Amino acid sequence: MCGIVGYIGKEKSLPILISGLKALEYRGYDSAGIAIFSNDKIEIKKSVGQVKILEKVLKDDIDLVGHLGIGHTRWATHGIPNEKNAHPHNDCAKRIFVVHNGIIENYKEIKEYLQNHGHNFLSDTDTEVVPHLIEDFLKDKKDFHTALLDTLKMIKGAYAFAIIDSKNSDTLYAVKLSSPLVIGVGKHENFLASDPSALVGKTKNVIYLKDGEIAEITKDNINITNLEKQKTHSEIVRLEWDLEQAQKGNYPHFMLKEIFEGPEIVLSALRGRLKGKENFVKLGGLEQVAEKLKETKRLIILACGTSYYAGLVGEYLFEEIAKIPTEVHFASEFRYREEPFEKGTVAIAISQSGETADTLAAIRKAKEHELLTLGIVNTVGSTIARETDAGVYNHAGPEVGVASTKAFISQLIILTLVAVYLSKSNGHSKNHALLQELEKIPKKIKTILDRSSELEKLAEKYKNCDNFLFLGRRYNYPVALEGALKLKEISYIHAEGYGAGEMKHGPIAMISENFPTAAIVPQNSVSEKMFSNLEEIKARKGPIFAIATEGDKRIVSLANDIFFIPKTIEPLEPLLTVVPLQLFAYYVGTKRGFDVDKPRNLAKSVTVE
Ligand code: F6R
Repeated sequence: MCGIVGYIGKEKSLPILISGLKALEYRGYDSAGIAIFSNDKIEIKKSVGQVKILEKVLKDDIDLVGHLGIGHTRWATHGIPNEKNAHPHNDCAKRIFVVHNGIIENYKEIKEYLQNHGHNFLSDTDTEVVPHLIEDFLKDKKDFHTALLDTLKMIKGAYAFAIIDSKNSDTLYAVKLSSPLVIGVGKHENFLASDPSALVGKTKNVIYLKDGEIAEITKDNINITNLEKQKTHSEIVRLEWDLEQAQKGNYPHFMLKEIFEGPEIVLSALRGRLKGKENFVKLGGLEQVAEKLKETKRLIILACGTSYYAGLVGEYLFEEIAKIPTEVHFASEFRYREEPFEKGTVAIAISQSGETADTLAAIRKAKEHELLTLGIVNTVGSTIARETDAGVYNHAGPEVGVASTKAFISQLIILTLVAVYLSKSNGHSKNHALLQELEKIPKKIKTILDRSSELEKLAEKYKNCDNFLFLGRRYNYPVALEGALKLKEISYIHAEGYGAGEMKHGPIAMISENFPTAAIVPQNSVSEKMFSNLEEIKARKGPIFAIATEGDKRIVSLANDIFFIPKTIEPLEPLLTVVPLQLFAYYVGTKRGFDVDKPRNLAKSVTVE
């Protein structure tokens, strides 16, 4: 998805904008551009492809010395990826420069109106109408702020804009509706970004702009008003992310680094929340709604992609541990449901970024129905974190690899904690074994990571397959779905995840010696049934790669390849079984020669529906 950066302050803006754009590269994009106020005029540079190509274009430009600028990485929606469609876009007089995330739905009518009024358009984008509209309103001798307000009243859709005006070298304008924008607060300098990861290493103090707010940012001041020109209240939030977390360190890819952060991720999700000896889970983020939560009769989990699969594990956890009926919905489908919501229904949104448009829309629908809403979110202060009534942060640090890995692990931990917290047995000895085992998970993940070379060898063996089936049951059914998603998104191998019981109802038709199955078959309450499924696959000559429990002898005669994991209790198995599948996908993707941190067509934070 597109990325926005902006800077105003004492430093030269160009290197700050470039490093911000590089930090946003992981979101996926196809072209980049900047506009800088330099020597009394605004200079603009764009290029197709990566930010390093833009850097090359800029190398010859020693004149770009200004202290105010905006930058953008574009992920094409309206118009193909080329230089003319790359942002920033400007008006006819080259006075107003705009970068935009989101979609302007009524741009065609506006463009037609403006063209009939003499405006000349250079691109195929929806964005370009914005500088021209402001220019048009300015003709009526309005001040810039009023012209901007009139523009916002006319456009429909979702947007985050950063705007600069060549008649005002002191101000960076920022506006948002349904698309995230965050202001980094500095000393004699301020920053702007669509994603807080672009601010890491620059400032830890941020203000998340709210829908319908307009910020006029100078180097020493941030003035935020609403569409009625009234001042709004904005809170400064402290980002806990540090530079080291946002850099690759000695790892070749963020994805590998983030998988290897697993043990630390579990510890930081548990920190201060688990009183193992007292069998007690304490979740500060839920305290304010603790009384209401006691009346919970039903849980609805809303999420997308990997977060949705974590939610599916959550369904088993909530029903087994908290004894609360739970259902999980794709956030994108939830809006079409017309079910009556009884009193006592609680909606839980799970989102790493906290900005996924579908999940946000689903939570808004839940609120319309007056449900209590909770968030399990990694990004502090993000829109979903703010719009839910209460929530629990993952504290997993920035996840940069587009394929979600460490966030999934931390989501599983938080879901387990919330399940115990909601159970009537929080504080009872009944949860002793579970909580004690939770504390052992980091070491167990570490033993898996220490044997990553085994998975690298398996990846070499399977890297040329065209298809892969992933099977699991009960807690490991969502892991099968997640294993398949990981493999397909970074290696482009067609992979399907199934509940093993469903195999005989269709997928078994595909099994042959060229169609391998990854079977998640730890020793647990469903392993007998899993073994029967594997016999059926073996009888049809299907190769089997099994994730099994250390010491399991039976699997040896069934599977062609086995990766052993340490024993744990069934509700916590996904925390271990998913790790080899993440590593397997990573190695297959890299061995096939792909950039696994930036898979084709994918974006890290999906801020359009
Ligand atoms: C897959 C992946 C996506 C995200 C999904 C939801 O590896 O990363 O499927 O899980 O787009 O994103 P969040 O969790 O940010 O709402």
